[in-house]
Order: sequence, then C-alpha cells, then structure tokens
Amino acid sequence: MLVDSHCHLDFPELHSNIDAVTARMADAGVGHALCVAVNMEDFPRVRDLAERFDQLSASVGVHPDHEGGEEPDVARLVALAAHPKVVAIGETGLDYYRHPERAEAQLARFRAHIRAAREAGKPLIVHTRSASEDTLGVMREENAQVAGGVMHCFTETWEVAEAAMEMGFYISFSGIVTFRNATELREVARRVPAERLLVETDSPYLAPVPLRGRTNEPAFVRHVAEEVARVRGIGIEALAGLTTANFFRLFRDARAV
Ligand code: NI
Repeated sequence: MLVDSHCHLDFPELHSNIDAVTARMADAGVGHALCVAVNMEDFPRVRDLAERFDQLSASVGVHPDHEGGEEPDVARLVALAAHPKVVAIGETGLDYYRHPERAEAQLARFRAHIRAAREAGKPLIVHTRSASEDTLGVMREENAQVAGGVMHCFTETWEVAEAAMEMGFYISFSGIVTFRNATELREVARRVPAERLLVETDSPYLAPVPLRGRTNEPAFVRHVAEEVARVRGIGIEALAGLTTANFFRLFRDARAV
C-alpha cells in the first residue's frame, strides 16, 4: 500500500470527480491520502472530504501565497485541529519566489502555525520556496521540533534536508523527482534515511513523468514512488512499505483502513 502524503482534493478539478479519483486511487494501491488545506475559506470542504471518505485525512492552515482571506490566530487553528480527522497543521511556510514583497506577513503567519502545531500536538506541513534560510531560522526560533512535521514537495539542497531532519522533520518528494532535469534532487532522494522518507503528488499540480500535462491525482503517487525506489536501488514494494509506515508514524492521528 502507498500513501499520498500531500494532495488538494478540494480543488475543483479533483473535487468535481471525487468518486472517480478515489476509485482510481484504490485501483493503484494508494490506500490513504492527506488532503491539505491552503486557506480558511475552503477548509470546510477539505474537512468534509475527510469525514466522507475513510481513506482521506485533512489538515488546517493557510498557505504562504494566500492573500485576502481570513488570517487565523493560534487559538483558531488549535480549535479546528481538534477535529478527529485533522491530522496536521498547514500547509504553512515561506515563499519568496512568488511573493518576496510579503515576507513580513508570511513570517508572522508561519510563526502562528508553528505555535498552533506545538499547542495542538500535531505535525507541521511546511512549504518553502526561495526562502530556505528564513524557513529553517523560524523553525529553530519557534521550536518546530516539538511539533515535528514534513518538508513537503522538497526541492532544496541536501544541506537544507539535513537541517530539517536535525529538527526531526521528514522529507517528502513529489513528481518533480521524476523530471528530466532533477538530477540533484534525485541525489537528495537517494541520501535521505529510509525512516524519514515520504512521497506525495501535490495534486492537482505537478503530474509526474510519464503523465506530465495531465491533472495530477493521488493514484499517480505510484510513479513518484517508482522513481524514488529506482534511485535508491530498492523495489517498489519495499519503498511503499517504508513510506507508508513513516506516514502513519508522523501523522499519528491518521488511520489506515
Ligand atoms: Ni500543496
């Protein structure tokens, strides 16, 4: 069994076909998927999916790129995280690639999410882009290691992976690891210790090779897993076994069905 540790099934292109998407997930041997919230306005839809489908769980949080919606404080995040199917806080983090001008607001939001994760006793889902130094710095200052979590859709260097793992974080690889030009990233995927490795789709974005250009979905996490298994020189079943065990160890409130 495989797990997709990060997807966005509430996005319209997947939500409008949810029964077909979950059926293909089962056919592909993907037994669980974590639906990750990106803003407060759509969070009820994420939570509803997790309530409706045993094989889905949810997170609560506001993505660093999101603007103009509700800005949740620590207490609000902690309250929503008390739902039995909300297993994580995020996605949160810093994105200086898309919004360098909003660094200050992103930093404040990131700190609130880390504090909420510590208080709620739930792991963090961290997004970082062109901001690894500040991301790691804030994680250290806010004692993110108390909550633990995952560096999702990892595209950074080995040094960044190592620093995050020193704080107890896991490293999750998406379809980017299958891209032709991702040579350095494949080397990181080869080196990450087996007990810290996760795989994800980040669907509907980033469909892996050989499905690029299509709407991504949790079933396609098999292609990510196959590539990571290949670079590590192990079989797909071994890779599936270890990433699935890692997922349920990290997201301890998620239940396998
Ligand atoms: Ni995402």
